Order: sequence, then structure tokens, then C-alpha cells
Amino acid sequence: MSERVALVTGSTQGIGEAIARRLAKDGYRVALHGRRPAAEAAVLLEALPGASYHAADLEQVESAGALIRDVLARHGRLDVLVNNAGAVARFAHTDLRAATAAVWRRMMDVNLIAPWMLVAEAEEALRASAQAGRPGCIVNIGSHAGARPKGSSIPYAVSKAALHHATRLLALTLGPDIRVNCVAPGLVDTAMSAGWEAAYELWNTRAPMRRPAKPQDVADLVAALCANDYVTGEIVIADGGLNLT
Ligand SMILES: NC(=O)c1ccc[n+]([C@@H]2O[C@H](COP(=O)([O-])OP(=O)(O)OC[C@H]3O[C@@H](n4cnc5c(N)ncnc54)[C@H](OP(=O)(O)O)[C@@H]3O)[C@@H](O)[C@H]2O)c1
Repeated sequence: MSERVALVTGSTQGIGEAIARRLAKDGYRVALHGRRPAAEAAVLLEALPGASYHAADLEQVESAGALIRDVLARHGRLDVLVNNAGAVARFAHTDLRAATAAVWRRMMDVNLIAPWMLVAEAEEALRASAQAGRPGCIVNIGSHAGARPKGSSIPYAVSKAALHHATRLLALTLGPDIRVNCVAPGLVDTAMSAGWEAAYELWNTRAPMRRPAKPQDVADLVAALCANDYVTGEIVIADGGLNLT
């Protein structure tokens, strides 16, 4: 029971899966999470020693409490929370009517309120982690769209901008027991970005790194923030330098 434990939300595929694999390699016991039934996460679960899987639909934001309780019941501690699960809506910024109240609510529920609820539910366990010797650690997965006026839609970008600001406010509030940082990726090659040809064209031609990120690129950055015991309140943009153009 002495190994550090990390909950990575939305870790059944894409960026979250890469983060889970990387943290497991770094010696964490990983609590995997997604909406799909456990049987569909079995291959990943078996690949990560000591890992567990917890299903919860975070669009139902009240499920955050049960998710944290489940993880604590299984592992007895929680040292790292990676708020990676996210929802996207993709439509032109000029199409104001496409941004219905339902779309706004889904973006805010999944991308801002659920991470907030998870932090609130995990606070006590993350503070206990500090008593055991190292500060607890929260890493939120934001987006370059939350840092610049860009992105797949205005509601998505606004929800991520709010998550970035919550990151800074929480870092102020929860230190020194708990550090809170955010990684804000640009385009990452996952199912979420599949078929978004214009974005791929942009990254392949304009970004200094001339490619979108691989999930592993984001996972390496998250792992570095978890390994550090001092940095807090940072929004680290990982967009291959596109924001410079
Ligand atoms: N891909 C990009 O270009 C990009 C760029 C910037 C930021 N991001 C952010 O990075 C994060 C991960 O994105 P990704 O590209 O890896 O996405 P992805 O491949 O679509 O994977 C999303 C993950 O989140 C889970 N998930 C989605 N909605 C959920 C919900 N309502 N409740 C619980 N789990 C849910 C999914 O689980 P199930 O499949 O089991 O439901 C899956 O594990 C998101 O926050 C996204 O906004 C992505």
C-alpha cells in the first residue's frame, strides 16, 4: 500500500491512456477511468501492474464523489489526480446558434465542473499524501484553445479557459499541501481530433515542430509535472510552438 496512486480520468484511450501508461512506468499504481464497461478496458488494465478500472460518466457531475470513493476503497490513498477526460464540440465560431444551451452545459459540465468536483472530493486524500512526505498533485488537461482565441468551438474554448483559471486559483488555495498545474495541448493525434483536416494542415505546415503532438508528448509533460515537487499554478502550452506564429 506504499506506492503512490494516480487517478487518470478518461484513460481508456488517447492522451489519458498514454498518461496512464507513463505514470505506471514511473512506478505509480494507476486508477483508470472511462465511461465504457470494464470488459472494454481489460487489455490496458492487465498491462499495468496494480491498476484498477472505474467507470463513471462525468457528464453526470455528481458521479465524481462515487468515483473518488471507489478509488480510495481500492487503493487506500490518492496522490495524483489527472483531470484528462473531456468533451469536445466542433463547429464554426461564426455559427452562434450552434452553441445551444445544451452544448454549453455539456462543455462546462464535463470540462470544468466535473474536474472541480473531483478536486473537491479528492482534497482530503491529496492533503494526506502531503503528510506522507510529498505534496499531492493535480494536473488538469486544458487546451491551447483556452489560452488563445481559437479552437474547435467557442463553448469548448471557453470551458478550457475556465479550467485554466481554476487551475491558478486552486494552486493559490491548496498550496503547500497540493500543487495544481495544467497542460494545454494544441492538436493531438487522437480519436477526438480525427477528420479535422484543417487543423492537421495547420500544424503540419505552420507549427515550428511541423506536426501535431502524439499522446506520448503530452504524457511526458504530465509525468514531469508529477515528478516535480515545487512548480504550481502553471499552464504549460504544448502546441509545437504554433502559438508563436
Ligand atoms: N486531441 C486533441 O487534439 C486535444 C487537444 C487539446 C486538448 N485535448 C484534451 O485532452 C483530453 C483528452 O482528449 P483525447 O484527444 O485523448 O480524447 P479521446 O481520445 O476522445 O478520449 C477521451 C477519453 O475521455 C473519456 N471520456 C469522454 N467523455 C467522458 C465522460 N463524459 N465521462 C467520463 N469519461 C469520458 C473517454 O472514455 P470512454 O471512451 O470510455 O467513454 C476517453 O477515455 C480532453 O480533455 C481534451 O479536451 C485534446
